[in-house]
Amino acid sequence: MGDKETGSGGNRLKRQLIDGSYRQKKPWSHCWFQVLLLLCVVLFILCYTLSNSSLSRWENYPLHEQYRRFFSQPNQDNQTPFYQAYATHRVKTNEILETAEIPNVPATAPSTIPVIIPPTVPPSGIQYHQAYARNYHFIMDNTEVCKTKSPFLVLMVPVAPNDVAARDAIRQTWGKDSKVQGEVVLTLFMLGSSRGADVGQVQEELKRENLQHRDLIQSDFMDTYLNLTIKTMVIMEWLVTRCPTAAYAMKIDSDMFLNIDNLLIMLQTPGIPKQRYLTGMLMWNRPVVRSKDSKWYVPEEMYSKPTYPTYTLGMGYVFSNDLPVKLVEVSKSVKPFNIEDAYIGVCMEKLGLAPTSPPNPSQFKAYSTKYDRCEYSKIITYILGSSEELVRYWTDLKKPGPPC
Ligand SMILES: *[C@@H]1O[C@H](CO)[C@@H](O)[C@H](O)[C@H]1NC(C)=O
Repeated sequence: MGDKETGSGGNRLKRQLIDGSYRQKKPWSHCWFQVLLLLCVVLFILCYTLSNSSLSRWENYPLHEQYRRFFSQPNQDNQTPFYQAYATHRVKTNEILETAEIPNVPATAPSTIPVIIPPTVPPSGIQYHQAYARNYHFIMDNTEVCKTKSPFLVLMVPVAPNDVAARDAIRQTWGKDSKVQGEVVLTLFMLGSSRGADVGQVQEELKRENLQHRDLIQSDFMDTYLNLTIKTMVIMEWLVTRCPTAAYAMKIDSDMFLNIDNLLIMLQTPGIPKQRYLTGMLMWNRPVVRSKDSKWYVPEEMYSKPTYPTYTLGMGYVFSNDLPVKLVEVSKSVKPFNIEDAYIGVCMEKLGLAPTSPPNPSQFKAYSTKYDRCEYSKIITYILGSSEELVRYWTDLKKPGPPC
């Protein structure tokens, strides 16, 4: 039928219409193609930018930390079970800190509009270095505590401002007694400044807590994971200026089990140095982490050597109280980096000093898989999973009857 009508006007019209529509269709599909292409390009650019910036953004999510713990650490930090325990520990500490670090999202933000959370942890340590100044001030203090009674040992516990649970658990357990094995022991908590919308309320609560317990020291630096070196140096400064008469001090994390009696027994062991003494779980030849997405990443411009000098693991290290003034002094010429325990190691090296193995190195334990009363009666430190665990294990250890 079509063949017959080839010459007809109607057909020509039809063909023109078809041609016309064809001619009109051609640029249309061109246009669609271009739009599609443009869309692809835009999508590509978007994906690329997102993937670049997502790393720092993901730093905010504990789940990602869990992921990294299993997948990105073993490359750099393999071999010794000590360091793996250390890694686990650090992740835990960070989780606690990060719950305190939820960025300031206005409560009035409509729930339908996705809130883009800005990265709170800078990916590189350079900003950290720029932020580091030795001009921090104590905004909450207990200057009298060492004047009224000269302690033999001061336990300095770095803790996030909002972590009341950790402080309360310590006050009920290893931080409870002011006299242990006949010696005066003092437990104090070191806090940085909290941030977020509820700062005023947090400060009010801290004031009340301090009125009740008289054991909070707070400085005006921002309490973040990357500022832990500042926290440690502020602890040292506090010991120098507020507690120079103490014989020993210990920096101990808030998620630790501390068998305080065994620690005192260790410090009373004849032959334990009274000066230039730093002990704990020793780390030898630990490689500096150079993969940028790691929590422990330290850029070469901050610390250039491939390995750290021998240092004591940050979970808990004990030192004679002549060291803080030396460390504070030498830190003026040691470029800061965010790994607080390794930084103390570098400062010690610069002072020509080195940590000493404890009389019984097996007493400084990092990670335990399960509670064992007999075991916990012999050790000095263990890393715990929660404050609730601390109270539970402590109560069990202190119940009557031989532990072994
Ligand atoms: C560390 O504290 C300083 C002083 O409060 C602050 O300016 C800086 O942003 C903090 N750095 C990090 C990485 O949190």
